[in-house]
Amino acid sequence: MAQRVIREIVEQQKIGPGYFKLVIKAPEIVAQAKIGQFVHIKWIAEERNSDPLLRRPISINRINHEEETITLVYRVVGRGTKVLSNLKPGDQLDIMGPLGTGFSISEDTNRVLVIGGGVGIAPLYPLVNKLIEANKEVILLLGAETAEEVIDLDSFQEFDLELKVATMDGSLGKQGFVTDYLEELEQEMDYIYTCGPTPMMKVIRDWAIDFNVPGQASLEERMGCGTGACLSCVCQVKIEGKDGWTYKQACTAGPVFPLREVIFDE
Ligand SMILES: Cc1cc2nc3c(=O)[nH]c(=O)nc-3n(C[C@H](O)[C@H](O)[C@H](O)COP(=O)(O)OP(=O)(O)OC[C@H]3O[C@@H](n4cnc5c(N)ncnc54)[C@H](O)[C@@H]3O)c2cc1C
Ligand code: FES
Repeated sequence: MAQRVIREIVEQQKIGPGYFKLVIKAPEIVAQAKIGQFVHIKWIAEERNSDPLLRRPISINRINHEEETITLVYRVVGRGTKVLSNLKPGDQLDIMGPLGTGFSISEDTNRVLVIGGGVGIAPLYPLVNKLIEANKEVILLLGAETAEEVIDLDSFQEFDLELKVATMDGSLGKQGFVTDYLEELEQEMDYIYTCGPTPMMKVIRDWAIDFNVPGQASLEERMGCGTGACLSCVCQVKIEGKDGWTYKQACTAGPVFPLREVIFDE
């Protein structure tokens, strides 16, 4: 069950242009966190200054049971993440979590494709780790603007898996979109996991439908409450086994949804 706790930042490190790694000691969240879940965080404001007012959702990038810490990797895009990047070890955060459904791993799959784009790579390390532990054959495709923005590259390189990278500026791997690799896949896939920008996941969703490959997509909708009450995070999802679709709250029914059921922009 999600909790609300006030906890200290243990480490804050700049890891790339506008990218930061934040380590927080949070035993209660560590005890419950599952792969693909997120925390909804707010900084403890000085005096009456509570700008920005709303929490910001960030995926859990690492769960360290020994140290009782969680790690978040985030990119500064606006006011909230800018304030977050200025915090120091010892500063406190107001954290709700762990939230959301997270990824699930099926015993019936063997060859698994994992595709991450941009900051959407952040929740994938614990997933890939679990897949390797479960003896799955993993093909990992990572895409980013530049080489410096490929989150966790060194850690992924330590796994026994097939890794391909695409960058928009060509500074690492193939130049262009990570989805360009889909055309080159030589083997059939049993399953796909993906997280990243909506246009990327839409291409992957269409490919998964064409090749009849099931999978899961983690959506990064804008969020307010994080608890299913405000409806700011609703997304369109097909109704299983029926025609038509329904709205679901990404914060409680997701952020991970069956890939082929997500309606990205239709
Ligand atoms: C479940 C979930 C997990 C996430 N995990 C991560 C993570 O691990 N690392 C990370 O860096 N970010 C993650 N995000 C996105 C992150 O929450 C937003 O970047 C953040 O809330 C922006 O806050 P801000 O105040 O800095 O920007 P704002 O001032 O609120 O917005 C600045 C710009 O970013 C855009 N933006 C804001 N929120 C989102 C969003 N959710 N998706 C796409 N664009 C957005 C706005 O449209 C605007 O253009 C996640 C989002 C969700 C829903
Ligand atoms: S963020 Fe409020 S319902 Fe999902």
